[in-house]
Amino acid sequence: MGLFEKFQATAEVYDALKESAGRDPFGVSMDEMKGPTRAMVEGKEIVLAGTNNYLGLTYDEGAVEAAKTAIVESGTGTTGSRFANGTYAGHRALENELADFLGYKHCMVFSTGYQANLGAISALVQPPNDVILIDADCHACIYDGCQLSGAETIRFRHNDPESLDKRLSRLGPEIKGKLVCFEGMYSMFGDVAPVKELVEVAHKHGAYALLDEAHSFGVFGDSGRGVCERDGVLDAVDFYTGTFSKSLASIGGFVASNHPELEYLRFSSRPYMFTASPSPANIAAASAALAKIASDNSMRERLWENAKRVHAAFTQLGFDLCAPVGPVIAVKLADRQEACKAWNFLMEEGVYVNLAIPPGTPNATSILRLSVSAAHTGEDLDVIINAYTSLSEALTKETAQA
Ligand SMILES: Cc1ncc(COP(=O)(O)O)c(C=O)c1O
Repeated sequence: MGLFEKFQATAEVYDALKESAGRDPFGVSMDEMKGPTRAMVEGKEIVLAGTNNYLGLTYDEGAVEAAKTAIVESGTGTTGSRFANGTYAGHRALENELADFLGYKHCMVFSTGYQANLGAISALVQPPNDVILIDADCHACIYDGCQLSGAETIRFRHNDPESLDKRLSRLGPEIKGKLVCFEGMYSMFGDVAPVKELVEVAHKHGAYALLDEAHSFGVFGDSGRGVCERDGVLDAVDFYTGTFSKSLASIGGFVASNHPELEYLRFSSRPYMFTASPSPANIAAASAALAKIASDNSMRERLWENAKRVHAAFTQLGFDLCAPVGPVIAVKLADRQEACKAWNFLMEEGVYVNLAIPPGTPNATSILRLSVSAAHTGEDLDVIINAYTSLSEALTKETAQA
């Protein structure tokens, strides 16, 4: 009995949420996938605009064929960790491909992006003489990595190099190692970090910079190497973390670095050592997607064209947007109730976006978060823009009646 009492309050909030949304916003069942941007839900085909499938590569012919071949040649699973069961040729090859693409000397592949951050942070930093500084809006896996490390963790204000500078200045001489963690593009609002300034501040204080480009890999920079490429500091970042679950259209994650000591994580990082290594199909799909990203800029160009069209349309409709144009377009709403209702309204109009509400959002904001894909066709975008136009009209009507 005692174990379950704590769920009562959460269950009540969740039930109320489902009621005000009209359906479960966190349990939508994609009954049949129709491609990277379409799925059957409740018997109706809807446009998917909350997938993080930025480059639309989940159905890429090369990636699909590579995954099929990998299953036939290497099996459906690795049935254990690399530490215990050994490394497949595909793991090592992908590490080399990622290192080459990013221009780093070393790379380690993890089973998810979550584990890449968890594993890197918890192994690099140790109490009592190391400290972590994190951007307040960092993803849960960065927070969890801090917690697993057991080291003191200090938050600095979101995207604020001055705040980081102040906190680093206050550290005493007993602190030996300092790790500063932040992201390229933040997933909820789609806002972009001042990566160059943050790296410079970290290095000024003798700290190491860990940058998570989960949402910006493949999206930012002339060759898709992330915000740090765009800002000209790719080679200054100490630890570059990423995921295969967005632009790389697979499952897995990685940490790349020029520090040879990264290799020590293979026998000191628990989220690397004590979990099964990525499956051959996941590795092969990520490898094929990476090769495509490295050789073809057209997907990124299409992504940005699509993002510009949607952002301009939403601006014209008068929505309160969380960030300048980018592949994540988040619309602020008055509160949870309004956001839930608006989310369901879009579902009825045939568009799936992400509902994001407190406590999972920065500044307790309630938002409808949309992620644009290079795979969105002109027709998909028409459906999205028409749905938001109807939503805008409905909200205006409601305000007028209130
Ligand atoms: C910023 C950030 N880092 C890491 C991750 C974890 O990635 P994965 O889905 O590969 O576990 C996510 C997932 O959404 C993320 O948003």
